[in-house]
Amino acid sequence: EKQLIMKWKGSLNRQGIEEASGAAYSELKRAGIEEKQCLAFRLTLEEILNIYLDGSCEGSALFVRCRKLFGDLEVVIRVNCREINPLEHEDIILGRLLKNFVIPPEYSAQKGSNRLRFVFTLYNTTFKNYVFTWKYVKQQKGLLLFSISAQLFSVIFGILAPIASAGIIRAYTNNKADMVLEIAGALLIISLLKNLFMVISNQGYNHVYTGALSALESDVVDGVLKITTGCIEEKGTGLFIQRITGDTSRIASGYNSIADMFVNILNYAGILIAMFSIDPSIALVTVVIVAVQVFVELFRTKRLFKDDRIFRSHNEQFTGLVGEMVRGHRDIRLLNNEKTFWEELTERINTANEKRLYMQKRSWNLKLFRWETGEFGTFAFIALLAYLIAKGEMIPATALIIYNYYSDISSSSLKTIGSFLDSITDFNISNERVCALLTSAEFPKEHFGNERLDKVRGEITFEHVDFSYDTSVKPGEGRKILQDMSFVINPGETVGLVGKSGCGKTTAFNLITKLYEPDAGKVLLDGKNIKDLTKDSIRGNITVVSQSPYIFRMSVRDNLKLVKPDLSDDEMIRVCRLACIDEDINLLPQGYDTMIGEGGVNLSGGQRQRLAIARSMLRDSSIVLFDEATSALDNDTQARIQQAIDNIRKDRTVIIIAHRLSTVINSDRIFFMQDGNILAKGRHEELLETCEPYRNLAMMDALEENG
Ligand SMILES: Nc1ncnc2c1ncn2[C@@H]1O[C@H](COP(=O)(O)OP(=O)(O)OP(=O)(O)O)[C@@H](O)[C@H]1O
Ligand SMILES: [Mg+2]
Repeated sequence: EKQLIMKWKGSLNRQGIEEASGAAYSELKRAGIEEKQCLAFRLTLEEILNIYLDGSCEGSALFVRCRKLFGDLEVVIRVNCREINPLEHEDIILGRLLKNFVIPPEYSAQKGSNRLRFVFTLYNTTFKNYVFTWKYVKQQKGLLLFSISAQLFSVIFGILAPIASAGIIRAYTNNKADMVLEIAGALLIISLLKNLFMVISNQGYNHVYTGALSALESDVVDGVLKITTGCIEEKGTGLFIQRITGDTSRIASGYNSIADMFVNILNYAGILIAMFSIDPSIALVTVVIVAVQVFVELFRTKRLFKDDRIFRSHNEQFTGLVGEMVRGHRDIRLLNNEKTFWEELTERINTANEKRLYMQKRSWNLKLFRWETGEFGTFAFIALLAYLIAKGEMIPATALIIYNYYSDISSSSLKTIGSFLDSITDFNISNERVCALLTSAEFPKEHFGNERLDKVRGEITFEHVDFSYDTSVKPGEGRKILQDMSFVINPGETVGLVGKSGCGKTTAFNLITKLYEPDAGKVLLDGKNIKDLTKDSIRGNITVVSQSPYIFRMSVRDNLKLVKPDLSDDEMIRVCRLACIDEDINLLPQGYDTMIGEGGVNLSGGQRQRLAIARSMLRDSSIVLFDEATSALDNDTQARIQQAIDNIRKDRTVIIIAHRLSTVINSDRIFFMQDGNILAKGRHEELLETCEPYRNLAMMDALEENG
């Protein structure tokens, strides 16, 4: 068997990454793998490690091991002694590695099943996670402290209770009824106080929990709104919904657990001290019995941690599809493909649930093991007490107190350790996932410059712009959507943009608004590179009426108020008239107060666009980008939209993407796009004369319009 093993240890920083990937490169090369392959591997490894570095684990201990057998390349990467898990990052990392790294045939397994295993793990330790969350909890530091103290009191009363119970039994056996009553009274007070303090502390924790959760959730939502469009589109909704709604609450409850655990540890310490003062040997035996169980418990949660992450990433895929099902329910019905959709969904449901079942199965097996060990421990403990009583070294009452303590530790306390470890596992995974949303390079944020443009004249310039949506390929490779595109649009000009479907018109808009950034070249606004401008300077001055505008599930009025919170009725009606939508709105059951369905479902395509035009007029910006709906509109609606556009044209720079030439015939200039570039610019008449493809387009258009 041909085998190659490479190991590298060092520190996770830029230099370490360079060295590690360099070492992997030369090792693979020495094994006789093609230069190109080695290089691909090196680059991918570098990229992966950089993702972890950007996840702020600078200086962590890094360990890389590549092992190569026939047809089986195994790369193990450990950061801080933890392996990096493949499944979580399957799509981004493994996918990229598989794309770049083709296993040479001489290494492929005999059965033709070459396997590439990639083991990857988390970069954050529990402690780091607590540091991350602390800023949300610390706003209620006082309350947290108060709750912990209340819980402490409850613990102290809990330690006193067994002593009192033993006293009662002793009094019974001695036939002292009055003493029984006295001690029972004391026990009553102890128990009442214990419960009272417990509830007080829990109420406090609930407040801390709620406060921290709200702060965290709103922070995460804020973070998600900053993630680039490209990334959100690539990842899909499920991931974001799960992380914003589910993982945040797990993080908050993780904090409660640690407070709980802190008090519990004090409880055990108190009980052990009490036991120790009665009989050291017994205390020692207890420590051993408990330690064994804690060890098993730790082992269980370590496994649970791995399994749970796998389960959750599958669950995300399920939720994502559910979201699409709800949003796309019309299309699903009309395509008559409920069945296929249902099958796909069922498959995802089954996979996710199988992962959960597997996780629970392993967890229960280990729980069973722990319980059974515990039972043996109890047996040994009772036997020891019996032995001591028989030898006359202990009186039964003392044995009873000790036994009470023991059962307290071994049952309830171990259960809390178990659930504590469970919620810490939960906490860590959730933290990792939420933290990634906020800080990791896997979720890039939009970046803006800090140059401000207060009054925009409205000049838009493209200088040799190249663009491709595919970020996984290196610049210069892959399909380019825009290629060396250059133009200048003057302030106040109206430009029509026409060209075949898919030629990149909407894409050009996406670059002007900086939803995406060019791979090469520059986009300028009033002569300033938009890379250097602030967000408000760009998006505050550009209004887009998109091809399929999103109307929110609110009343018509609220949809408009979203843009201008202090909107008056007069102004609202004025813009709706200008946008030629006023009449349509008045026909709705409750006029301006009619609720619009999700995504604007109870409006027609043309109405939706006109409402979006009204929305855009409220912004009163100096640049308007209008992306005409692709769906063919009837002549009347077309004329209304035309009118609406003419109403906004005055004193503004307007770019209109049109699918019918009639929409743009009156523009100052028309740009004819083809294959990601502008083939010709000019007035309609000029283009008819000079540009053959444009002439063809005009002819087709005329044919269509005349039926
Ligand atoms: N978010 C995206 N991710 C990846 N590829 C995309 C994305 N949006 C568009 N594309 C691709 O880019 C190309 C140009 O799309 P674009 O939306 O700019 O076309 P268009 O000219 O506006 O077409 P239409 O007239 O049909 O609206 C298309 O081939 C499309 O496949
Ligand atoms: Mg388009």
